[in-house]
Amino acid sequence: MKTKSILLKSRPKGMPTEENFEFKEEALPELQEGQLLLKTLYASVDPYMRGRMSDAKSYVAPYNLNEPITGGVVAEVVESRNDRYKAGAIVLGNLPWQTYSISNGKGLNQLDPDLAPLSYHLGILGMPGLTAYCGLLYIGEPKEGETVVVSGAAGAVGTVVGQIARLKGCRVVGIAGSDDKTAYLKNDLGFDEAINYKTTDNMQQALAAACPDGVDVYFDNVGGEISDAVYGLLNKFARIAVCGQIALYNATSVPTGPRVEPILLKKSALMKGFIVGDYAARFPEAATEMVGWLKAGKLQYEEHILEGFDQLPQAFFGLFRGENTGKLLVKVADFNAH
Ligand SMILES: NC(=O)c1ccc[n+]([C@@H]2O[C@H](COP(=O)([O-])OP(=O)(O)OC[C@H]3O[C@@H](n4cnc5c(N)ncnc54)[C@H](OP(=O)(O)O)[C@@H]3O)[C@@H](O)[C@H]2O)c1
Repeated sequence: MKTKSILLKSRPKGMPTEENFEFKEEALPELQEGQLLLKTLYASVDPYMRGRMSDAKSYVAPYNLNEPITGGVVAEVVESRNDRYKAGAIVLGNLPWQTYSISNGKGLNQLDPDLAPLSYHLGILGMPGLTAYCGLLYIGEPKEGETVVVSGAAGAVGTVVGQIARLKGCRVVGIAGSDDKTAYLKNDLGFDEAINYKTTDNMQQALAAACPDGVDVYFDNVGGEISDAVYGLLNKFARIAVCGQIALYNATSVPTGPRVEPILLKKSALMKGFIVGDYAARFPEAATEMVGWLKAGKLQYEEHILEGFDQLPQAFFGLFRGENTGKLLVKVADFNAH
C-alpha cells in the first residue's frame, strides 16, 4: 500500500509558504498485530498548527522537521489487526497528513456515522465547537441581556460562540474580515451587529456604536489591535476569554500594545486564557448539549471544504488569509464502507 505524506521541511518565518512543506510518496509496511490501516477521509487545518511549526516552547510539542504534520483527521479503518476496531469503522484522531496511515489504535475515538456528517467531528461537534462552548460558558458566563463581542466571528469557533450567546439571550456583536462575512453573521446566524475590521477606520467608535451598553463578555480569537479596541468598552465585572491570538501567529517580533491591567483593575474584569483540553472533564456535557442544539436546528453550521489531499498546505494558508467562512478543512477521500 502506497501513501502520500506532507512533511514539515523547514520552520516558517512569518507567513508559511509552500516551501515549508514537502510531499513524499512511500510504501507502508505490512500491518503488525494490534495495528490498523487507516484511510484519511477528512483532514482539518487549525490555527494552532502554526505554533507547532515553530520550535518555541508551547502547550504542545513542536512538529519535528522532515516528519509528517499531524492534526485532526477523520479516517476509515481499511484493515484491522486490532480487536477494538473492525474494518469499515470510522475514527477520529490526531493523525499524520497522509492519505493512508498505520495506527496502534491509541487515542482514536470511534464515530457514529449516523450522528452527523463525518466532517462535523472536526468542527462544530469536535475541538472547535467544544472550544466555543467551554470558553464562552465556563469563562464568559454570559447572562441574558448582556453584550457579547466575539472576534474572528465568522470562523469555526467564532460562529459557534456567537450563536450560543444568542441562545443565552445576549446582544451579540461579531468582528470579521469581509462584508460577506458580516452579512452572513447578521442575516444567517442572527448576530445583532457585525463589523468588518478591514474597512473600519476607527474600531473603537464602531464598537461603541454597536455596543451602546458596553461589553460584558469578550471572546477573543484574534488579539492585537482588534482586542485593544474592545478593552476600552468593557463594563464593570466584564469577562474576557482569551481563546486565540491569530493576528500574532505570524509575527516575527512581539508587538507592544496598550497596557490592559489598569482597565482590568478599574472594571474589576476577569481575563482568562484557556486551552480547550483544560475542560476535558466537561466535554461529555458540552457535546450532549451541542448535539441537541444542532439536531433542534438551533445552531447553523457552515464548512469551507477544499477537495484533495494536495490542497492541505493551501487550506492551511487560507486560515491566515481569511478565506474561510465557518470551518476550513480538506476532503481527502470518500467514505465507501456502506
Ligand atoms: N484555546 C484553544 O484551545 C483554541 C482552540 C481552537 C481554536 N483556538 C483559536 O481560536 C481562533 C479561531 O480558530 P478557528 O479554528 O475558529 O479558526 P477560523 O476562525 O475558522 O479561521 C481563522 C480566521 O482568523 C481570521 N484571521 C486571520 N488572520 C487574522 C488577523 N491577522 N487578524 C484578524 N483576524 C485574522 C480570518 O478571518 P477574517 O476574515 O475575519 O480575518 C480567518 O478566517 C484561533 O486564534 C485559534 O488559534 C483556540
